[in-house]
Amino acid sequence: MSLDQAAVIDSEELMMHPLLCVRDLTISYDLPQALSLRPKRVPVVKNVSFDIRPGETLGLVGESGSGKSTTGRAILRLLDPASGSIEFDGVEVTAFGRRTPLSYRRDVQAVFQDPSTSLNPRQPVSMAVTTILRRHGVGNRAQRDRRAAEAFEHVGLQRMHLDRYPGELSGGQQQRVAIARAIALRPRLIVCDEATSALDLSTRGQIIELLGDLQVETGVSYLFIAHDLGLVRHFSDHIAVMRSGEIVELASANDLFERPEHPYTRKLLGATPEDHPRGREERRRVRRAFASAHGEGLIPDV
Ligand SMILES: Nc1ncnc2c1ncn2[C@@H]1O[C@H](COP(=O)(O)OP(=O)(O)OP(=O)(O)O)[C@@H](O)[C@H]1O
Ligand SMILES: [Mg+2]
Repeated sequence: MSLDQAAVIDSEELMMHPLLCVRDLTISYDLPQALSLRPKRVPVVKNVSFDIRPGETLGLVGESGSGKSTTGRAILRLLDPASGSIEFDGVEVTAFGRRTPLSYRRDVQAVFQDPSTSLNPRQPVSMAVTTILRRHGVGNRAQRDRRAAEAFEHVGLQRMHLDRYPGELSGGQQQRVAIARAIALRPRLIVCDEATSALDLSTRGQIIELLGDLQVETGVSYLFIAHDLGLVRHFSDHIAVMRSGEIVELASANDLFERPEHPYTRKLLGATPEDHPRGREERRRVRRAFASAHGEGLIPDV
């Protein structure tokens, strides 16, 4: 075997190795009980398991209240699971204790539904990016300003937007700021929880295209939580379907839409499965063709 061949096999093996490995994750909340003053611990996520590989997108779908956000919040260390394991790049995340290491906070970022709630209305939006860079000890002030300008450019915002306040930007522009902040530290995984749900259709298409481009350029992985099945179908490599805290089906995006096995998945998908563009490159091509034909970046339902 030549050295070149060995290098190819090595990088293939690296790609096969999961970046995030979730096993038997169970998360409980204290929920008030009827006829009792004492709340009861109730599991809302039950024995959930999945992997996300480098550069891959796992779509997470399911009815409201099925536990999607709770799963995402546990990965972000915003809450502690009752049991189970979350392994990131071979390191057990649930063992971190109260202080999450800075390296994990850098590697795993989030984009939520409503950017206006995560941006400080009294600060120019550039500070959303420079503040996170400062917190992580990146460079001096001039270097951070430069990185912020680069991140803004990356997400399709202009320099003039840097000094604006959130209220002076559109919802789509605010979400671009949130994405600029999420990518400024060059993370390896971004949890997108309904990241495009609050946006109008054409802006949604543009943001999805931006996230897809960022993935191709940086190799970032996504946990993509969304209600919109058409969107998830076009954006994900694999899709997990949640119902009442459990994953009832997990399959490649193609298989899930072409051969849904679980009755709940079939119900969720509604009508009979349609043809689906195979592979990420083809999905990208379809999105681009559609966006340029319509000039608006709408997502086609193909
Ligand atoms: N902070 C909380 N305290 C108590 N219960 C909660 C809390 N957050 C969520 N829950 C409950 O946990 C369950 C799962 O909620 P979760 O937000 O994860 O659902 P979801 O799948 O993200 O729903 P949606 O699609 O509506 O966003 C729900 O029954 C919800 O009421
Ligand atoms: Mg949710």
